[in-house]
Amino acid sequence: MQYKVTMLGTGLIGLFYTMTLYGQRGRDRVHSVYSRRLERARSFADDWDIPHATDSMAEAIGHPDTTAVVIGLPNHLHEEAVRLCVEARKAVLCTKPLARNAEEALRILELAEQGGIFAGYLEDLVYTPKTLKALASVRKGALGDILWVRSRETHSGPHSDWFWDIEQAGGGAIVDLGCHCIEIIRNFVGKDIRPVEVTCWADTLVHPIKAEDNAIALIRFENGAVGQFEVSWTFRGGMDLRDEVAGTEGTIWLNHFLRTGFEMFSSGAGGYVAEKAETESGWLFPVGDEVHELGYPDMFTDMFNALDEGREPMETFYDGYIVNAVIDACYRSAASRKWEPVELSDWRGRTGVTPIQGLKEQVDGLLLVKRERLPDGRVKHILKDEASGAITQRFVNADD
Ligand SMILES: NC(=O)c1ccc[n+]([C@@H]2O[C@H](COP(=O)([O-])OP(=O)(O)OC[C@H]3O[C@@H](n4cnc5c(N)ncnc54)[C@H](O)[C@@H]3O)[C@@H](O)[C@H]2O)c1
Repeated sequence: MQYKVTMLGTGLIGLFYTMTLYGQRGRDRVHSVYSRRLERARSFADDWDIPHATDSMAEAIGHPDTTAVVIGLPNHLHEEAVRLCVEARKAVLCTKPLARNAEEALRILELAEQGGIFAGYLEDLVYTPKTLKALASVRKGALGDILWVRSRETHSGPHSDWFWDIEQAGGGAIVDLGCHCIEIIRNFVGKDIRPVEVTCWADTLVHPIKAEDNAIALIRFENGAVGQFEVSWTFRGGMDLRDEVAGTEGTIWLNHFLRTGFEMFSSGAGGYVAEKAETESGWLFPVGDEVHELGYPDMFTDMFNALDEGREPMETFYDGYIVNAVIDACYRSAASRKWEPVELSDWRGRTGVTPIQGLKEQVDGLLLVKRERLPDGRVKHILKDEASGAITQRFVNADD
């Protein structure tokens, strides 16, 4: 069906979401928009032909003609917005991160579940065209067992005051960018595999703020797989979004945004180039269809199809809660400088998962460690005698 939507927020993400809904021949429409300043709500409504504009969040959510609410507000306002959606019995789609910490995320999850409303987590970066294709390949077994996933999101820092205020945002680059990376990692490792513990380095290297502007973390999963993320609010030169997936049978490298094959030189008259591009002149790296490359169209398609079909979307508030719990463990680890457990009071995935088994192939009763063809064409086997533990090598079809 066609949805009439309440849009909360008229900032960067409110704009991207609205552009997405109105893109191509999209049929869903924003019918009511909320901004904290009425003039801004009205000018946004004029730009997008939206019938109702207000500076009252409750009025926008309660608008009798809308069935779904999209939350594009700063992190500290997500809980209040979800509470109002439950009261109005509206479907709710909340942007990332779900909350500032796991405690708040759990309250939001419980509000939506106990209120019995549809709740989708707008984690766009697991819906990029490349990620969807990569995930399908992984699920078909193209990479074997997933061992290691690396996700990187870096840029020169956010575009609004509230991101830099730890009270409103809940943290720095980890909350803002790490939330994407963690959910990308979970999707590749398998969302039913429990994240067990985390080690994290975080520091404030450049900006005069309380929160971290750089961080690196490792997440160990119950089956032995490892996730690695790198986030920065100090990286110069644009927005770098890259993922790497390594499995026992294959590898995937993804580059979503910077230097993806579109390079342009301009003396500078063209204006906006791409989100977080730092320059509008010289050699530039534009992005073909920005909302598409960031996953927004496939994300909203999944959300509204799920609403139509009465099923859960690919990304739920529960996923948002797990992401916040991993982030909390990152902060504990950065402070303690030790591995810290991921504390989950509500785990719905598998338990007692066996570790990834690794190679099982045998040659003449010995375990094959590695097979390699050398530059001279000979093939070498590295073998292990399980009983003695001895490691030996043999050439196949050739003299040693
Ligand atoms: N890729 C993504 O999914 C993505 C990208 C950017 C932002 N976000 C998320 O979207 C949310 C909003 O971020 P943004 O980039 O649009 O921020 P923004 O600053 O561009 O816009 C925020 C909006 O909220 C309003 N606002 C700010 N403070 C407010 C307050 N105290 N009370 C009421 N309204 C207030 C602003 O007027 C504006 O309309 C955040 O949760 C952020 O993490 C997601």
